[in-house]
Amino acid sequence: MPASDSRHWLITGVAGFIGSNLLETLLLEDQSVTGLDNFATGYRHNLDEVRRRVSAEQWARFHFIEGDITSLATCHDACRGVNYVLHQAALGSVPRSLADPIATNHANVTGFLNMLVAARDAGVQSFVYAASSSTYGDHPGLPKVEDVIGQPLSPYAVTKYVNELYADVFARAYGFTTIGLRYFNVFGKRQDPDGAYAAVIPRWTAAMIAGQPVQINGDGDTSRDFCFVDNAIQANLLAARATDPAARNQVYNVAVGDRTTLNELFAALRDALAAQGVDYGLEPEYRDFRPGDVRHSQADIGKARKLLGYTPRFTVRQGLAEAMPWYIGSLAGRRG
Ligand SMILES: NC(=O)c1ccc[n+]([C@@H]2O[C@H](COP(=O)([O-])OP(=O)(O)OC[C@H]3O[C@@H](n4cnc5c(N)ncnc54)[C@H](O)[C@@H]3O)[C@@H](O)[C@H]2O)c1
Repeated sequence: MPASDSRHWLITGVAGFIGSNLLETLLLEDQSVTGLDNFATGYRHNLDEVRRRVSAEQWARFHFIEGDITSLATCHDACRGVNYVLHQAALGSVPRSLADPIATNHANVTGFLNMLVAARDAGVQSFVYAASSSTYGDHPGLPKVEDVIGQPLSPYAVTKYVNELYADVFARAYGFTTIGLRYFNVFGKRQDPDGAYAAVIPRWTAAMIAGQPVQINGDGDTSRDFCFVDNAIQANLLAARATDPAARNQVYNVAVGDRTTLNELFAALRDALAAQGVDYGLEPEYRDFRPGDVRHSQADIGKARKLLGYTPRFTVRQGLAEAMPWYIGSLAGRRG
């Protein structure tokens, strides 16, 4: 990309899974990036890995701030001179929010509001933020369309819905437009496989590589619209660069538009591992349904297609095939 197309981006949550993948893509495009993270759930080794994947010249365009979005001064500092904000920092996980709703609210609501105020004050061109499919809550309709939501099923879902309400009010009250991306179960390299709150794909992949049993919550018919991280990155870049007024001040589903049951996911992971020469012979163990989980999830991605030109390039199986060598490489040391 020519230097004249270089812009200054702020990625909050840059040391996390999606944030570090956004960082890698933007640096490879020769963009300038400020990153903000407090390492609550992100890692320095994610940043180190990005450094190894870009040139020294590209890495020199990255400025990292270790700080917390619950500090307004830190948010103001991070937004200085920025064209586009990609706000990813938050405490993810439904079970984490059920265990500690105050911590989730602090990062996801107070931190979000700080970032909105700081970005507005800095006059940034675009404020794109990570919303969530959990906002659909108990609404049974499938596929999910953006303007039909139900009651939230967890404190996490409340915080992500509050983000959308604040974003919308900032358009009405201050003329500050934002774009929310409701991610549906994003997966890919650098998604954390560790800890009680790990997402299903990295948790199962790590267990399978180690030859350990995999637990399915419920009967395995629970379904999700699993979305490879490259699709989510594409949506972020399209949203930030969107100039059509009709495309701004909106929320969009970001997924593939497909539905995969947990039983199907297990089979797909076993196949993806086998394609890399790792055979997994155990059957999954079934246990109780998890509180706060929705039963089925599938996105209608028509709105993002129409207004942003979003075209997901990876199906679930293609995404798993892309991600698997990374998981095997980074988790192999734990095998046995
Ligand atoms: N991964 C998914 O499937 C998914 C689905 C829906 C929504 N989201 C949202 O996408 C965003 C990114 O998620 P992820 O999967 O990359 O998670 P992640 O935990 O890997 O990344 C979040 C990052 O934010 C940082 N962070 C948390 N609190 C912070 C604070 N107070 N100040 C500064 N940094 C802070 C963490 O240290 C971490 O690096 C989050 O907002 C999450 O809620 C993710």
